[in-house]
Amino acid sequence: MHLPPLTFVTGKGGTGKSIITAALALNAARSGQRTLVCELDDHPTMTRLFGLPDDLGVEPTATRDGVHVANFRGMPVMQAFLRTFVPSRRVTDLLLRNRVATTFFESAPGVMDAVALDRVADILSDGRWDRVFVDLPATGHALTLLRLPASMAEMIGVGDLAARVRRLADIMADPARAALVVVTLPEEMPVTETLEFCSTIRREVDIRLGAVVVNALRRLPLDADERSRIDRIARATEEAQPQASARIRLALRLGNFWHDEDQRGLIRLEEELPSTDRITVPFVYHKESERDLVEQIAASLRQREPEGGAA
Ligand SMILES: Nc1ncnc2c1ncn2[C@@H]1O[C@H](COP(=O)(O)OP(=O)(O)O)[C@@H](O)[C@H]1O
Ligand SMILES: [Mg+2]
Repeated sequence: MHLPPLTFVTGKGGTGKSIITAALALNAARSGQRTLVCELDDHPTMTRLFGLPDDLGVEPTATRDGVHVANFRGMPVMQAFLRTFVPSRRVTDLLLRNRVATTFFESAPGVMDAVALDRVADILSDGRWDRVFVDLPATGHALTLLRLPASMAEMIGVGDLAARVRRLADIMADPARAALVVVTLPEEMPVTETLEFCSTIRREVDIRLGAVVVNALRRLPLDADERSRIDRIARATEEAQPQASARIRLALRLGNFWHDEDQRGLIRLEEELPSTDRITVPFVYHKESERDLVEQIAASLRQREPEGGAA
């Protein structure tokens, strides 16, 4: 998958956004790219996946794998933001200790999002990174976030702050510099939501849809020969062990059903997003840990060329 310097990753909650982001970042770092993952989701997982402490700050922290991770959520990112505008540390500290101010920062819509995105723009301009991955919140919140730079630039108009905001909108709109990756499961509901999300993005946000990652694809674990052998076992045990035989048949049927459902999901994505790359990632049945899962998915992404689309 050819990704630009800035990749945003989103998807319906629980579809594997964070695992996929981590796997993409791992592959980038291993191919020699200076790689940073920015955690913007409210459910941070990068720290766990990369063995870092949970109270990670805004400064990029190195992991053993060469990937760097930074947390762009909460008060630390607000603190970093204020420090770029307010030279006096005493004043920013006072502000951040003030309950009214912090309540405003945390509850006013878009304030923390705008601040987090401003940090992303800072990170991109400092020249230290070849690849930056942003683990966004789930689709609903991600849409609000992705709309923000362009709408703020429009709202603020001219001046230093407007220029500051506009730099990220400009990067996002440049297909050579930024892309959005949407992660989905191949099941009916997530596919429907993914198609709706992608069409809203196309209408409302100036960003290239880089790829749809179809995660946890359930492949038929047996070929035709193996299936008929199992079928023979089911028949042979029918009399002596009717329950066991019925379970064997049920397992076979479920395997077929899931496989067919996933194939239908893939076909819908192909038909309705014909010009977008689709990257399939298999369901991983055996994993030692979440970290092992990331390794297995990273290996599968390295082999897998996009299926169809405009690669
Ligand atoms: N390809 C896969 N095979 C098996 N399990 C997976 C796969 N991808 C993700 N998972 C599991 O799904 C769960 C959710 O993944 P996560 O990346 O945390 O989702 P999200 O960030 O979208 O909320 C994790 O517990 C992970 O173990
Ligand atoms: Mg996540």
